[in-house]
Amino acid sequence: MTSRCHNYTLNGTFPIRQLALPNVIILLLLGYCEYHVKVDDMMTFRQHSRKEIVLVTGASSGIGRAAAVLLSEGDYQVILVARRSDKLNKIINEIGESSISIPCDCSKPQEIKTLCQTILEDIGVPDIIIHCAGAGIWREIEETSPEQLKSMMAVPFESAFNINAFFIPEMIKKKSGLLIHINSPVCYFPWAGATGYASARWALRGMHEALNQDLEKLGVRSCQIIFGEVTSEYFKSNPNSHHKIPKISAFIPIQTPEKCAKVIKKVIKKPRQNTFHPLILRVFLIAHQFLPIFTEMLIRLTQRKR
Ligand SMILES: NC(=O)c1ccc[n+]([C@@H]2O[C@H](COP(=O)([O-])OP(=O)(O)OC[C@H]3O[C@@H](n4cnc5c(N)ncnc54)[C@H](OP(=O)(O)O)[C@@H]3O)[C@@H](O)[C@H]2O)c1
Repeated sequence: MTSRCHNYTLNGTFPIRQLALPNVIILLLLGYCEYHVKVDDMMTFRQHSRKEIVLVTGASSGIGRAAAVLLSEGDYQVILVARRSDKLNKIINEIGESSISIPCDCSKPQEIKTLCQTILEDIGVPDIIIHCAGAGIWREIEETSPEQLKSMMAVPFESAFNINAFFIPEMIKKKSGLLIHINSPVCYFPWAGATGYASARWALRGMHEALNQDLEKLGVRSCQIIFGEVTSEYFKSNPNSHHKIPKISAFIPIQTPEKCAKVIKKVIKKPRQNTFHPLILRVFLIAHQFLPIFTEMLIRLTQRKR
């Protein structure tokens, strides 16, 4: 309870009828303490309210973690969101009291709704939302179960969609807001053995492009950042995927999450609809637009064969 961690829990349901009276009293006392920790955390968070508020999903590791750490060192107050609260707590201890964490399983629409309502009521409308939460094992279509497809679509695509849907009307009222979607080159150049992953990332890109049409002249912008391979936990969390990266990617330098965080910060300072990092990805895209047969052939020749 006395931890410096600013871990703001979402309300859940509790089987209160199954509890004996002494247990209820203890829980009420604990709830009272917890409530005060929450209020203290929130008050400390609000003391820094001159800064811009950034919501980062997938902030417990990789790109999201690095972005949260970097931004909190500057002019931003960060709300860190992911499932693993122990990891979030460690990061908050590192960052200090200007930021706050809210554990949430972004694959669950109800948890997203509670998350967004909590943020809106207790903090306000985020100025910037960075969608980094993402997972998905790379598999051929026939190896992908309906449940796996559902979970790949749930995060990052549906989670970003639902969070955006909640906050966009508020951002439109303020006439300002920045949505940043972290995506993979697969949303432009699909390769073999990652059908569900490619579908989810194309959906994410589709939403980003549609939003740019929807939000024109309303003060809210959608940005997409495409990173090449990054040295994060991604391939550890999604095993049997890494060897499916086409060999042509040897020409694309691997990035650290910290480097990606710097790119994200640049996009915040100077928003662009699409950013490719490293730059060679942009060259690939241009080649793909003018001569798709050439890039498709390069990928086919260097990708994993069945
Ligand atoms: N690594 C690469 O080479 C690379 C390249 C280009 C693009 N990307 C994309 O960048 C995004 C971030 O990847 P990363 O490399 O930073 O991977 P990572 O280190 O595995 O981070 C993924 C983050 O997403 C969170 N997450 C996953 N499922 C979630 C859920 N249901 N609810 C809430 N949070 C969830 C994880 O936190 P919890 O487990 O604590 O929930 C974690 O913080 C992904 O969409 C990935 O596809 C990655």
